[in-house]
Amino acid sequence: MTLPISTILFQRSAQRRGRLALLILLGVAGATPLLAGTILSPNQRTEARIDKRAFGKLEDGTPIDIYTLRNRNGLQVDITPYGGTVVAIKTPDRRGRITDIVLGYADAKGYVSDISYFGALIGRYANRIARGRFTLNNVEYRLPQNNGVNHLHGGVRGFHKVVWQPREMTRAHGVALQLTYLSKDNEEGYPGNLAVTATYILSDANELRIEYSASTDKETVVNLTHHSYFNLAGAGMGDVLQHKVRINADRFTPVDDTLIPTGELKAVKGTPFDFRRATAIGSRINQADDQLVFGKGYDHNFVLNKQGQELSLAATVYEPASGRALEMWTTEPGVQLYTGNFLDKVRGKAGKDYNRNGAFCLEAQHFPDSPNRPAFPSTVLKPGERYTQTTVYKFMVRGAKEKP
Ligand code: BGC
Repeated sequence: MTLPISTILFQRSAQRRGRLALLILLGVAGATPLLAGTILSPNQRTEARIDKRAFGKLEDGTPIDIYTLRNRNGLQVDITPYGGTVVAIKTPDRRGRITDIVLGYADAKGYVSDISYFGALIGRYANRIARGRFTLNNVEYRLPQNNGVNHLHGGVRGFHKVVWQPREMTRAHGVALQLTYLSKDNEEGYPGNLAVTATYILSDANELRIEYSASTDKETVVNLTHHSYFNLAGAGMGDVLQHKVRINADRFTPVDDTLIPTGELKAVKGTPFDFRRATAIGSRINQADDQLVFGKGYDHNFVLNKQGQELSLAATVYEPASGRALEMWTTEPGVQLYTGNFLDKVRGKAGKDYNRNGAFCLEAQHFPDSPNRPAFPSTVLKPGERYTQTTVYKFMVRGAKEKP
């Protein structure tokens, strides 16, 4: 059984402990979803709030801040307007020990030179566009070819390398940081002035919710995502090969050797891409499979089983040693599972090095190269329309004896 991280305070008196045990029993019986293996001590319990501090300067001297969002259960998310980047996510394990579970850098400079997109907001187009070209209304647009011959993650100065306008907000069940950015017509080759908003909301239900919206003054393509690298055992604590992943997808989009989809929606059944039951990332990653060879591991888009644009459960990940679990929900039709295949001695926060398979990303998205694939769900946005996308990462713990 999966339960949300507990909001229970440590109770000192034996009488109170007795009541607590009863409550836990009720919780296990399904009467209340409140309880889990985590017991937070009073000093871990916080009021929901946002704090701001300096995070360094860009090369031109622009000061960059970092905002810390806290919820009532001691969860903490650090976000910088540079790249709309999530710098840290601190969550308890099943014993209440709080650890940072995303890869990142100690200061703003690290993000300026980053080539891995750690924690960033990605746009105007997440993932690849073949040969950096697409045609809209008979006009061919050319984008930077910043990944071999292809265009990746919005280009050289995509949304991950710009400074967003921050605004602190309170929402009904948590605190929020709203980020806005105006991407000018022809920026990185894309047509239309695109006004983008991405709001990070940390709720008391231990969810990090990202709400995106965008509008344009000229027909364009839009595909936004978030690029956190998770390691549920803790950032820099080895590889994620023991993490168990479940993905609600019967099909995936196979790619060529430059990681561009072939156009096929292939059944996962009988392949190393079948994550319909919880399976350790490492159990098949080294199989002799062309797709795994092309990606140097998992770097593929899964076609989520869903009706339309409803917010639905896309994936669940569980790390058995710490008990941490993550659910990902999205309104998008696809999710990219990327297993940090290109990480190689990247010096991160707290002096830790990040290496191959040191993290996984679950990037909610429309399928890669959709602008060149009329059969894929469309990524075209027209003037007068509104692009919207919601993705939720929900943090939980499970007991030692619980099944994945
Ligand atoms: C892509 C990878 C790429 C990585 C960059 C992922 O979304 O699918 O191919 O190397 O981002 O860190």
